Amino acid sequence: MVAIATDLLTKVFDDGTVAVDRVSLEVAPGEFLVLLGPTGCGKSTILRLVAGLEVPTSGHVLIDGEIVDHLPSRERRLAMVFQDYALYPHLTVAQNIGFPLRVRHETATDVSARVGEVADQLGITPLLRKLPGALSGGERQRVAMARAIIRRPLGFLLDEPLSNLDAGLRAELRSDVAALARRLGVTTVYVTHDQAEAMTMADRVAVLRRGVLQQVGPPEQVYNDPSTLFVAAFLGTPRTSLLEGAVYADGDRVVVDLGSQVIELPADHPVRSRHTDRVSVALRADALTLAPADHAGPVLSGTVRQVEHLGHEALVHVDTGALPTSTERSRLELPGPQAAALMRERPRPQAARTEYGFYPAYDPELPGEPPPVGEVVVRVPAVGLPRRDETLRLAVDLDRLLLFDRVGARIRLAGGETRQSQV
Ligand SMILES: Nc1ncnc2c1ncn2[C@@H]1O[C@H](COP(=O)(O)OP(=O)(O)OP(=O)(O)O)[C@@H](O)[C@H]1O
Ligand SMILES: [Mg+2]
Repeated sequence: MVAIATDLLTKVFDDGTVAVDRVSLEVAPGEFLVLLGPTGCGKSTILRLVAGLEVPTSGHVLIDGEIVDHLPSRERRLAMVFQDYALYPHLTVAQNIGFPLRVRHETATDVSARVGEVADQLGITPLLRKLPGALSGGERQRVAMARAIIRRPLGFLLDEPLSNLDAGLRAELRSDVAALARRLGVTTVYVTHDQAEAMTMADRVAVLRRGVLQQVGPPEQVYNDPSTLFVAAFLGTPRTSLLEGAVYADGDRVVVDLGSQVIELPADHPVRSRHTDRVSVALRADALTLAPADHAGPVLSGTVRQVEHLGHEALVHVDTGALPTSTERSRLELPGPQAAALMRERPRPQAARTEYGFYPAYDPELPGEPPPVGEVVVRVPAVGLPRRDETLRLAVDLDRLLLFDRVGARIRLAGGETRQSQV
């Protein structure tokens, strides 16, 4: 087992594209790290740099603490599996798996023994005489994995290895792949743009955006305690709602003003010190519940626009009349009070608001459908469902209310710490 690391790794392609921007990552021996991010964010480029298939513009790749920039790919002993893992169509499964050993001129007996061993580990022994054309997608994937592990690599670099498969098979194979990597104790970097894959497979998740590392941590930490607006927005099903707000602190009142309504916060809430600052509010479905009639805490109210039945529960889309924000926070220019005044004047904007510095919440980098303007989503039991156009009061769980500053950095609770990061 080896540690794999990158130190300020940077790749600028000849056409000027900055694909990877000063990424420093450490993968512990035996760890399963998932590199997660939208298309084009530099995931494959990082893997190719680590594998030695691409030369860094600056920065280093380290294996077990040693800089390996000078080592050719084959001497790094890392096995890479690509999305389009091509198997040789005219070779049997056994021949495909044994191929990397045969090119190293190992004896037929050795190759055959090792193929048997690996096939056994992956549960594909019955397939050994078949040709790839006669295999299902999942079986082909296992053969590609077998071919990768036959050389006893020190690390796995897996680039969206499941993305060619249908949804059901992906879900089944993702636990297989993670279990296999753990059983073999091989350090693994797994690339995906699928948050569900990242959350279920990873020891730690590294979220990447436009070549820049946003956050690294265990899945539950990255989800519950996002460092940036982008991470909060990228992780969330149904899609995280992003609303524009401004902080007002006056006497014993602290609120986040959404223009159409305010979220009341406790008087000693740390955001108090941000009086008049513009903030972005990220609300996932699990931050909201239907408020009982006697509910005393902070609420959001709005009009039901859509009810999605999921069988055991339903998702209710509630229009809060607030303005959407986007992950492009740094482009917003207006100071808080002025923006809030504008929001009050025009509580229900219809058109683009760019003249006021507002951007639509639509961001093509984020997964899922963009919510219509100012909408939040709440999960409710499938009985006694609210109706369209009904007005709902939603209780806001303050522990799950995520606030971000104008450049999209998280506004932490007291002293820059949060529950999770104190551990
Ligand atoms: N050889 C190249 N020359 C120029 N630009 C490149 C080259 N290879 C990749 N890029 C660019 O670098 C950026 C990162 O590409 P990369 O393939 O690493 O993204 P990715 O995160 O793997 O995306 P996907 O999820 O679509 O596979 C993209 O903007 C891409 O267009
Ligand atoms: Mg890629």
